[in-house]
Amino acid sequence: MSATIPREHEPTEVVDVATSAVATGVARHEPVLEIEGFSVDYGAGASMVRAVDEVTLRLDRSRVLGIAGESGSGKSTLVYAMTRLLRAPGLISGGRVLLHTTDDDGVVTPVNLVEASESELRKVRWSHVSIVLQSALSALNPVLRIGREFDEVLKTHRKDMTKAQRRARAVELLRLVGLTEDRLDRYPHELSGGQRQRVMIAVALALDPELVIMDEPTTALDVVTQREIISELATLRARFGFAMIFITHDLSLLVELADEIAVMYAGSIVERAGARELYEAPRHPYTLGLLHSFPPLHGERRELTGIPGSPPDLADPPAGCRFAPRCTFAMARCLTERPTLREFGDEGRSVACWLFDPASASRVPVELSLAPSARQTVGEP
Ligand SMILES: Nc1ncnc2c1ncn2[C@@H]1O[C@H](COP(=O)(O)OP(=O)(O)OP(=O)(O)O)[C@@H](O)[C@H]1O
Ligand SMILES: [Mg+2]
Repeated sequence: MSATIPREHEPTEVVDVATSAVATGVARHEPVLEIEGFSVDYGAGASMVRAVDEVTLRLDRSRVLGIAGESGSGKSTLVYAMTRLLRAPGLISGGRVLLHTTDDDGVVTPVNLVEASESELRKVRWSHVSIVLQSALSALNPVLRIGREFDEVLKTHRKDMTKAQRRARAVELLRLVGLTEDRLDRYPHELSGGQRQRVMIAVALALDPELVIMDEPTTALDVVTQREIISELATLRARFGFAMIFITHDLSLLVELADEIAVMYAGSIVERAGARELYEAPRHPYTLGLLHSFPPLHGERRELTGIPGSPPDLADPPAGCRFAPRCTFAMARCLTERPTLREFGDEGRSVACWLFDPASASRVPVELSLAPSARQTVGEP
C-alpha cells in the first residue's frame, strides 16, 4: 500500500465507486465470496428462532454489496455467523460460505468458513477478511492506547515486521483514514466517535484483506461525519480494490456506496439488484417501503411514509410471505404460500414476491412496475 496523506478533518475526494473502474486489474466476475443456503438459528425447540433463513449470495472481487433491512432482520447475525464470530445461543444450521482466498503468488483457494477449523479461521481473519463490528464504538479496548490495536494485529500475522516497521505501518494506516500520528498514543476515550470509527476501519485494512465487512459503521455518528467516512471508504476502495459488504438500515446511504444491494426481511433476502436499479425501480413492496423510510442524501426529495406495522416474531412467523401482513399489495396466495427468491425478467435481479410470478403478472402495481428512470414520477410530492 502506498499512502497519500489526507489531513485530519479535511474532506476526502469523493469517488463514485459504483461506476469507477477499480485499479487492481482483478477480473470483476471472479467471486470472492459465495454463500449458499446459509441458515442460522438462536436457541432450540419451541423457542427456536431462525434469524437467517437459507440465504444465498455471491460477491465478486472489488465489488460492494450493501445489505439493508429493518432492525432484527438478521443482518448482523448473517455476517457474524458467516465469519464464525457468532456466539451461543446462535448456531449455524445449514449451508456453506466459500471465501476465495488469494495467496502472495496469486493462487486462489476456496475456504468453506462453515467447516474451517480455528487455526484455518485464524489464517483468513484479518488477512483475507476483516470485519468492523456494529459495536465498533465500544470495541476498542479502553485501557490500551490506539497504537496497541494495530500492533496486536500486525504482531500476530506479520511476524517478519520489526516494532519500528509496525509503528510505521500503523502511522500509514491512520493517515489513510485522515488521522494524524499522535492518535497512536491516545486512549479510545480521548478520541471522538468518528475518530474511533476511523481507527477501526484502519485496523480492518491493516493486512490488505480481500473482503472487508462493515456492520453499520456509521449509524451512531452525526450526518456530517457519516458522510465523510462514506467518502473516505469509497476512496480507500478505489485505491486498494477490496470487496466490501456494507450493512445499514438506511437504503439511501447504500445507493451512494454499493454496486449491488440485497434487502433482508425477517431472515431472508427478499430482493437483490444493482444499487441504482433497486433505488430507481424497487420491485419488492418491502424495498419500496424502505425507500420511503429514509430521506435521500442527494437528489430529489420523496415523501417519507415508512412501513406500517412491525416485523414478525421470528419464533412464530406468519404462514406464507412474511411481509404479507404489512403489505399493501398482498393477495390471497401471499397469506398461505411463501415466495422464494427468483430471478426476475432480464434485469439481472431477483425478487421473492408473488406479484412477479408469471401467474400474477397482470397484477403488478404501477409503483413496482416502473422502468428504472421513471421512478421519480411516482410517489413524489
Ligand atoms: N443472542 C440472541 N438470542 C436470541 N435471539 C437473538 C440473539 N441475537 C439476535 N437474535 C434475534 O435474531 C434476529 C436478528 O438479529 P440481528 O441482530 O442479526 O438483526 P439486525 O438486522 O442486525 O438488526 P439491527 O439493525 O438492529 O442491528 C432478531 O430477531 C433477534 O431477536
Ligand atoms: Mg445488526
